[in-house]
Amino acid sequence: MIVTIDGPAGTGKTTVAKKVAKALRFVYCDTGAMYRAVTWALLQNDLPLDDESRISTFLEQFQFSMKHDDDLTRYFVADTEVTEPIRSTQVTSHVSAVSALPCVRKTLWKLQHQVAERDTVFEGRDMGTAVFPDAEVKIFLTGRPQVRAQRRLQEMLRKNPKEATLFDEDKMINELMRRDELDSTRSLAPLKCPEDAYIIDTSDLSIDQVVDLILNYTATKRD
Ligand code: C5P
Repeated sequence: MIVTIDGPAGTGKTTVAKKVAKALRFVYCDTGAMYRAVTWALLQNDLPLDDESRISTFLEQFQFSMKHDDDLTRYFVADTEVTEPIRSTQVTSHVSAVSALPCVRKTLWKLQHQVAERDTVFEGRDMGTAVFPDAEVKIFLTGRPQVRAQRRLQEMLRKNPKEATLFDEDKMINELMRRDELDSTRSLAPLKCPEDAYIIDTSDLSIDQVVDLILNYTATKRD
């Protein structure tokens, strides 16, 4: 069974998807981390982010893997652990441009389909629309921009206090809006709500409330 959880940044997708996967005993797959890992690798190798032909060749050698240790998922590009660097401001500011490239999406779609051989909860932007249009359960999370920005700031404070000092709420809202705009207007697999998705506005809900809604909804689909 495939569960897809799509939506813009700051809606709680990652925390919710992990908890849902744990409760269902499914594999958890953060496809945003895959796009971030490609972006990190391209920056690391000084490849121009608009040169599709060089990027295409580079991707033939691209090796990505995930390791799940309890609640922590660690990400690797070949043998290098990239769990932290893929969350840097530099990667975040380039990832939407990289993820709009067809060669990048095609490479990652293949990987995502390999993961889907097992029961999986996928979180991303195009999981329920482009990658798994036949998924049994499709969720779309939304949230007010202020709430989403505050969540991102809190997360940054926890994970990278130094970078957090460079942001305030307005700057974070602008960054989220810029990414939403790029992600939802690209021509290939834009961020959009699947027609048959269960939509949850997470602004005034706790993580556990959102998780419960999804688990209850999933139970109705499994019957
Ligand atoms: O979810 P996260 O914020 O880590 O995603 C980073 C970026 O990866 C998004 O802003 C988007 O550009 C890209 N992405 C995508 N398709 C997905 C998941 C993420 O284009 N399925």
